[in-house]
Amino acid sequence: MPDTLDEQLTKHLTDAHSIEEQALLQMKVAPRLAADPEIARAFREHLAETQDHERRVRELLEARGAEPSRTKDLVAQAGAVGMVLFARSQPDTPGKLTSHAYSYEHMELATYELLAMVAERAGDSDAAAVARSIGEQEGAMARRLEHNFDRAVDASLRDVGPDDLDEQLNKYLADAHAIEAQAIQLLQLGPKIAGESGLAQVLAVHLEVTRAQQDSVRDRLRARGGRPSRFKDFALRGGGVNIGGFFGAQPDTPAKLAGFAFAFEHLEIAGYELLKRVAEREGDRDTVELAARIGGQERTAAGKVADAFGAAVDASLSDLGVTVGSA
Ligand SMILES: [Fe+2]
Ligand SMILES: [Fe+2]
Ligand SMILES: [Fe+2]
Repeated sequence: MPDTLDEQLTKHLTDAHSIEEQALLQMKVAPRLAADPEIARAFREHLAETQDHERRVRELLEARGAEPSRTKDLVAQAGAVGMVLFARSQPDTPGKLTSHAYSYEHMELATYELLAMVAERAGDSDAAAVARSIGEQEGAMARRLEHNFDRAVDASLRDVGPDDLDEQLNKYLADAHAIEAQAIQLLQLGPKIAGESGLAQVLAVHLEVTRAQQDSVRDRLRARGGRPSRFKDFALRGGGVNIGGFFGAQPDTPAKLAGFAFAFEHLEIAGYELLKRVAEREGDRDTVELAARIGGQERTAAGKVADAFGAAVDASLSDLGVTVGSA
């Protein structure tokens, strides 16, 4: 029995609701971990906005005779706890917190973009308008975080002596190597999930770029006398910020994969922004250039993934056998 477009819209709304439930937990804990008054304030302000988002999504569900999914919400809340524990376990907690929050806001932004597209296809202009308006606030929060990258690095390096900066920079490079390992894993899902859609091509191109990025990071790390951390490469993949746990679900449709990939590219963008700043403080020009170059590639990839959102929504709907107009 094929799904109706109406049922798909409800599913997207329950996903958005669980994403807000996870965000609520994050926003409550984040100010205490930020170690910087400006960053803490950005989180506190966004907590009020997030409460509003949760309410507006719940009301859309109720207006459709549906309700939030307890199961999805619980999985998402567990993801929030995982992210907080991960950030807290890192020596550069404010940096990790800020970059993960930056990525999460982009996950939300993507969720609402995709939701608005499904709502438009279902002819629900109210839901589309709400999705676009919430999406704007997620984008604004992401920009506030981006403006605070300098402060996040300052807060992370506050207790690092000048002699230890060198080693700290190697740790940031090892983190970048581990993130690229996870990017490769995510991008390899492209053909399996995105099928023949335009998204698959975007991911395939970026997979090759990503392999080269990982090589450049490893070479730079070795030139500095460090080496990739097998433990970090494994830990990022196996737990901690396991993307599935972090975002509360595994991607199983082209639309979800697009949202994941968009958020993940922003995790990388933030990582390279922070790496660049740490390298600047250490006076390592080669690493500054490397971070700027790869960061630019991640921004290009994120833009291409966003351009493929519409194709990903259409591919998801046709994969699911959704019958348009039977709602
Ligand atoms: Fe948000
Ligand atoms: Fe990358
Ligand atoms: Fe990337």
